Amino acid sequence: MSDLFDFKTRPSGYAVMGNPVTHSKSPLIHHLFAQQTGIEIRYDRIQVDVGGFRQAVSHFSANGGAGLNITVPFKVEAWQLCQTEKSRISPRAQLAESVNTLQFNGDGTLFGDNTDGPGLVADLQNNLGFGIQDKSILLIGAGGAVRGVLGSLHECNPERIVIANRTADKAVRLSKRFDQRVEGTGLHRVPNDEFDLVINGTAASLGGTLPGIDKKCLGADTAVYDMMYADQPTVFMKWGLSNGAAHAHDGLGMLVEQAAESFYVWHRQRPDSQPVIHAIRKEHGKTSPPGNLC
Ligand code: ATR
Repeated sequence: MSDLFDFKTRPSGYAVMGNPVTHSKSPLIHHLFAQQTGIEIRYDRIQVDVGGFRQAVSHFSANGGAGLNITVPFKVEAWQLCQTEKSRISPRAQLAESVNTLQFNGDGTLFGDNTDGPGLVADLQNNLGFGIQDKSILLIGAGGAVRGVLGSLHECNPERIVIANRTADKAVRLSKRFDQRVEGTGLHRVPNDEFDLVINGTAASLGGTLPGIDKKCLGADTAVYDMMYADQPTVFMKWGLSNGAAHAHDGLGMLVEQAAESFYVWHRQRPDSQPVIHAIRKEHGKTSPPGNLC
């Protein structure tokens, strides 16, 4: 078991907290943003044991920490942390019941936000040229990842969003928070239609498996998007392309865009994401995504 406090915190520092965080790209992304905008920051990775999240956050803020990104498996705990009188939370994080960005203010108050939704929307619309309005979207999964993006996708006025989950009940319950354009169902009960966009928000790709969706949801113009990011195309992306989808994307753009939104929350400056996305792809020897919407 790792030491809860096996990290060094210096004043006005930033960090990503999670378990695991060893391979997190957030420090690299935030340092590139900082270079670009001329803001000096320190940004670390902090691995926290399950059960030790609250203590780790208190320790970080008591040592002058200014802001945290929160990743798996602590986003819901971070949301719970923002439910006290001394904290404020953005409406989008409240809707998602999940927080990925914390800001510690000088007056001792805490602000929680969730930038995953804006990150996905920015990647789809600005980087990949996929306009969400009036499109049909199949969103696979009903866990934290999907909760985090659903509100932002819905705000862009798609024609419909079908949430399909292995545990159908979870998808149905989630859909009830929205209007009739959002419906929830089981993986094997997806309406027999071709969708404009099929998003994988399950944890299946992490284990190199598919979420178990029928290929009938794919048409000649469908784009598939895996919220996971890997150095190689994910199994879901390969499945999409080999079953007739036009384009396949991983979640690197979303990762960089959600970081850009967190950077804005903390520093009130919006960095340019494109060069950072390219720099990270290049680092892995991939100069372009396997499929492209443009
Ligand atoms: P998180 O909140 O961190 O996203 P989670 O709540 O465990 O994690 O949600 C993971 C999602 O991936 C869920 O939608 C889960 O389906 P269930 O709700 O039925 O558990 C889905 N998931 C995980 N592994 C999967 C697999 N092998 N095939 C299909 N769906 C999977």
